[in-house]
Amino acid sequence: MDLIFEPLTQLGCMTYLIGSASEKQAWIVDPSLKEAERYVELLKQRGLKLTGVIDTHAHADHLSGGPKLMDLTGCHYIMHSSAKPKDVSDRVEDGSELSLGEVKLKFIHTPGHTSDSLCILVDDKLITGDTLFLDDGGAGRTDLPGGDPAEHFESLMKLSKMPDNLIVFPGHEYRGRRPSTLGEQKQRNPFFRPKTKDAYVQFLQELNLGPAEWMKLVLKANVDCTRDPNSVEIPQGVSACEVMGTLSDCASRQDIHYIDAQEMKTKMDSGWKPFLLDVRETPELYAELGHLPGIKHISVKEIAHRLDEIEAHKNDEIVSICKMGGRAKTAAQLMSEAGFNKVIVLSGGMTAWNQAGLPVVRDTVKA
Ligand SMILES: [Fe+2]
Repeated sequence: MDLIFEPLTQLGCMTYLIGSASEKQAWIVDPSLKEAERYVELLKQRGLKLTGVIDTHAHADHLSGGPKLMDLTGCHYIMHSSAKPKDVSDRVEDGSELSLGEVKLKFIHTPGHTSDSLCILVDDKLITGDTLFLDDGGAGRTDLPGGDPAEHFESLMKLSKMPDNLIVFPGHEYRGRRPSTLGEQKQRNPFFRPKTKDAYVQFLQELNLGPAEWMKLVLKANVDCTRDPNSVEIPQGVSACEVMGTLSDCASRQDIHYIDAQEMKTKMDSGWKPFLLDVRETPELYAELGHLPGIKHISVKEIAHRLDEIEAHKNDEIVSICKMGGRAKTAAQLMSEAGFNKVIVLSGGMTAWNQAGLPVVRDTVKA
């Protein structure tokens, strides 16, 4: 077997080594700038020449090692034809192939997370970049500059037509999951669930929170092809490229509890008085779904900075509410991490509450 295939990282931003044993050459996919020297040393130890560095897309969460490795080794720097990083030397299209010995890479253009996103097929392995993560990691966010949820849906459809036995190697893995097959991901990954473009776009609108400012700075530094690993301050251990990663990573490891709309109503009718926290945007409170009486309203975008307002309820039961459950879960995760230990998410949000025919307050205009 000629193929060398090896993840060079185990957690966080994933970097892959792909090479040909017979040719003694290799590519590195998605290298990090701060690890550039380590890769050079590793290749030297393995007796491999670096043929090229491939970035699956212009990254917004870490600095690419592509430009620096090009300087250090004279290798090619390969990205999609639409990629903006200024020093890219070789540009590929959907369907382009590269080979080393018997090892063949095939590129699949999968825009959505970014317009230049690529997946790479090598043997039975599919490097998905930020187009697809594993399980509830979902997929890359689509709210960065150049991102597009509708395009991302098309890209997932493209992947869904590929063989089930391919093994998915994602661009990020924040929780130590092992690669699984594309067939398993089609079943387990929630981002494969919406079956129409409209449903997918709506699903993402529920979850998108807007990227942190630092991500835009990282993206710019990668477009400028910085060689300075300290040119942007990047928070560590943040699952920033996930759709749900805006606020926190550690929070996503918390167990979240849910309550069904009907069950919640029944319990409240029997005297249960949880603290009701609605995390939607203000106009949504006055739109057709209405809101529950007595809510405290803090938008999920602001909750990280306004926890002091609900500090008195830290040990109370809190029900986190949004339109469908996505943002309420994010808020619940964030609160759990901050020590609010009895936060429950209204499953299906105000949509489920209304579908169950339960009473709501419908103010038409906010005073
Ligand atoms: Fe990304």
